[in-house]
Amino acid sequence: MCGIIGYTTKKNNSVDVAIAGLKNLEYRGYDSSGIAFNSNEGLTIVKSAGKISNLEEKLSKLSTASNCAIAHTRWATHGEPNETNAHPHRVGKITLVHNGIIENYASLKKELQEKNYEFKTETDTEVATAYIDYCYSLTNNKLQAIVDACKKFRGSYAFNIIYEDEPTTIYATRKDSPLVVGYSDVGNFAASDISAILNYTNRYSLIDEGEFIKITNSVVTFYNKDLQEISSEVKTATWDATQYQKNGFDHFMLKEINEQPKVIQDIFNRYYTNCTYSDIDFSAFDKIHIVACGSAMHAALVGKYLLQTYAKIPAMVEIASEYRYIEELITPKTLLIVVSQSGETADTIAALRLAKEKGAYVIGIVNAVGSTISREVDKCIYTYAGPEIAVATTKGYSSQVAVFSTLALNAMEQKNLLTDEETNNIKNELLNIKDKIDYTLAQANTYLDIANDIYSHNDLFFIGRGIDSAVCMEGSLKLKEISYMHSESYSAGELKHGTISLIEEGTPVIAIATDNSLFEKTVSNVKETKARGSYSIFVTTDEHKDYNFDEFADKTIILPKTNDFAQPILTAIALQSVAYETAKLRNCDIDKPRNLAKSVTVE
Ligand code: M6R
Repeated sequence: MCGIIGYTTKKNNSVDVAIAGLKNLEYRGYDSSGIAFNSNEGLTIVKSAGKISNLEEKLSKLSTASNCAIAHTRWATHGEPNETNAHPHRVGKITLVHNGIIENYASLKKELQEKNYEFKTETDTEVATAYIDYCYSLTNNKLQAIVDACKKFRGSYAFNIIYEDEPTTIYATRKDSPLVVGYSDVGNFAASDISAILNYTNRYSLIDEGEFIKITNSVVTFYNKDLQEISSEVKTATWDATQYQKNGFDHFMLKEINEQPKVIQDIFNRYYTNCTYSDIDFSAFDKIHIVACGSAMHAALVGKYLLQTYAKIPAMVEIASEYRYIEELITPKTLLIVVSQSGETADTIAALRLAKEKGAYVIGIVNAVGSTISREVDKCIYTYAGPEIAVATTKGYSSQVAVFSTLALNAMEQKNLLTDEETNNIKNELLNIKDKIDYTLAQANTYLDIANDIYSHNDLFFIGRGIDSAVCMEGSLKLKEISYMHSESYSAGELKHGTISLIEEGTPVIAIATDNSLFEKTVSNVKETKARGSYSIFVTTDEHKDYNFDEFADKTIILPKTNDFAQPILTAIALQSVAYETAKLRNCDIDKPRNLAKSVTVE
C-alpha cells in the first residue's frame, strides 16, 4: 500500500505537481503524508498525520518553490500513523519515500545500531534509509549503494531516493511494489501509478524488478543490477485524466456503480465479437483453482458456481493468503485463475508465483493494465473496467463476475454442452443486458428506503442459497467496509445451525432468492428468521412479482430476471446501492473508509 511520487523539473513547481499527483494516489493509503523538496535552503521535509489536506495546510504557510520533490501517502504497517513515522525519512545523506515492507528490518536495525546509527521512528523505512546511507559510506557511489542495500532487503519496496549532495536527481527502484517512470518536456516522474502523472504526461515506462533508475529533469537512465545501462520501452497511456475525476457524482463509488451498465455490456460484446480464449484448453487440466482476496474472492465464488454447475468442471476457491498451505495440491495439470482488480495484491502475487513454480498454468482476470499480475500470468484476461478509485470495489467486482461468465460459457461450448437454441438464448440475453442493469440502477428510491430502515442498527445478516449465497458475501462486505455496520453472510440453510440465536426483535435480514429452483427453500429460511422477530428485506426477481411477500417480508427488492451468467451482477448492484445509501446516512467517508487502502501490496 502507500503511494509515492517523485518529480524533478526545469521549473520551480515540483511541490504543487507532486501534491496534485499524490492526491490521485490517496486511494492507496491515507493515514498520513509527507513531502521532501529541494530549495535554496536545502532539502525541506514536511509531514502530517491524517489526509493530504492536512499536509497542504502546512505547506500553504511555507515558501515551496522547488525543482525536485518526493512525496508519500501512507497506510501504516510499522508504527502508528503519526507525524514521526510518516515519510519521507532522512538518515545521513539519504532522504527517501517507500511503498512496501522491509521484512528483515529488525536484524538490519541491530546491525546498523552496532555501527552507531540511531533511529527516531518505529518504521522499517527508516532502517532502509540508514542502510542505503551506510552502503553509500562504503562505496561513495550512489547507484551502487542502492544496489548493495537492496541485496540486503527482504520484502517489498518501491523507493524514490534523493541524495543530499545531488538534490535535483531522483533514484528509483522497485521489488514487488509498483512504480512507473513518466516523461514530460519540462521534467520527469517516478510514481506508484500512472494516475499520479496523467495530468502532466501520458508517456511512461514500467519499471521491471531489478532495474535501477536515475531521473534528472531532462534524462531518465535505466540500469540493471550490474549497473549496465539498459533500454526501456516508452508507452503511451490511453486513459484520460477525467476518468480519475468524480465528474459530477458525489462520490467515486457512486460514479463507479453507475459505470457498470457500460462496463458489463462491453465485456459481453467483446466476448461475442472477438473471443480470445481459443488458447485455453479446459480439457488439459484435471482441476481449477481460483485464488483471490476480498471482493475478488467473492467474484471467484460466483465463477466456481458457474464453472461447476454449467461447464461441469470441478473448481475450488482459495483465499490467496491461504493458498501456500495447500501447495501439495498444485501440479502441472492445475489451471489456476487469479483474480485481482489492482493486479498488485501481494497475497495474490505470492499465490501465482507459487503455482508457476509448481508448473501450473495461470490465467489472470485483472483490471489494471500493465500491473504485476497482468505481466506475470501465462494469460491475462483484462476486465477493462477503467480506473476504480473508491476503495470499495463495485465495477471491479461485477466485471470479474462477467469475465467468469464468459469463461464458463466458453468451457461449455468447448465441451458441446449447449444446443444452438440455448447458445442463442444466452447470447441474446447477454448482448442486451445493459437495459436490465439500467433498470436495476433506476430503483434508487427503493435502495434509499431500505437504507433508512437499516442504518441505525448494529448488526445485519445476509442469507441466500446457491449462487445467491456467493453474492450475499459481497453484499455483506460492501456494507461493513463502507458503513462500519456489522454484518454477516450465511448460506440460508446454515443459519439455523447456530447463528439464528443472534436474531432478535428488529434485526435486519436481507434474504436473496433469485434462483427459481431454490426460491421456496429460501422463503422458508426467511420465515424462520421472521418468526424470531427479524426485519426482513427480500430480494428476488420479477418472475415472482405476484407472490404474497406480506407474511415474511417487510420490504422487497424486485430485480429483472436474467440468466445465471448475469443475475449475480444485478443482485450485487442492488446490494452495492443499499450499502452506499446506508454509509451516506451514517456519515461515513465512503470513498476512503477507515483503516483500508485500495491496493493491498503487503502480505
Ligand atoms: O485489487 P484486488 O482485486 O486484488 O483487491 C482484492 C481486495 O483487497 C479487494 O477486493 C477488497 O476486498 C476491497 N476493499 C473490496 O471492496
